[in-house]
Amino acid sequence: MFPGSKHEWLGAELRKQIEPLDAHTPLSTERELAVRYQVSRATVRTALRGLEAAGIVYRVQGAGTFVSDSTVSKTLTLTSFSEDMRRRASRPDSRVVVAGEVPAGSVIGGELRLSVDDPVVRLVRLRLADDEPMCLETSYLPAVLVPGLLGEDLSSSLYEKLDTLGIRPVRAEQVVTAVTTEDTEAGLLVVPPGAPALRVQRIGLDHRDQPVERTTSLYRADRYDLKFGVRREPLI
Ligand code: GLP
Repeated sequence: MFPGSKHEWLGAELRKQIEPLDAHTPLSTERELAVRYQVSRATVRTALRGLEAAGIVYRVQGAGTFVSDSTVSKTLTLTSFSEDMRRRASRPDSRVVVAGEVPAGSVIGGELRLSVDDPVVRLVRLRLADDEPMCLETSYLPAVLVPGLLGEDLSSSLYEKLDTLGIRPVRAEQVVTAVTTEDTEAGLLVVPPGAPALRVQRIGLDHRDQPVERTTSLYRADRYDLKFGVRREPLI
């Protein structure tokens, strides 16, 4: 038996049906759905309103209900994964794949302005939205800045944890690269090996312009795009 109300049950059923459908596919009418699922039209309407609020479907007056485009548009503001997901009414979560302390080494050390032997916290997390894998993220943080971090539950927002330590990335240097997923990455992201992905490398800097994180995020290309405004220089 489904624990919630009827419309929640129907919402969950419809989500499953919608998932494989292409963006902009029309859904059956309210009346058809009511007959198929043996519920009232009011229940169908409430379930559809819930799906609409979650950005899963959209409605066009007089034309019906359609599947939304499920890609997340990442804008150029400095946000966290959790903020991005909540903004689109999804529930962010993480599965911690690796968490430990390692010497910075020359590449990470150089980027975080540390010596090669300075310890850094290395965190690999599979980032989920409503339990669906979206992104695989590897973060390095100077260990000296985040004492006790490894003892905490790391499945919630890293930026919220940094906030409690008084650390806040206020700007970032980012490089976006189109890549294909390797076998392990593909397995975690639940895509075929070699599937396209967007790799976003971020060096987050605090208000003193000190690097506080170096994170590589590997986003599923079918779930993510980047959206930014461009402006033409005025004629002089
Ligand atoms: C984005 C950024 C990462 C950052 C992460 C923090 O994914 N690209 O650089 O580490 O957000 O997200 P959260 O606070 O949800 O853990």
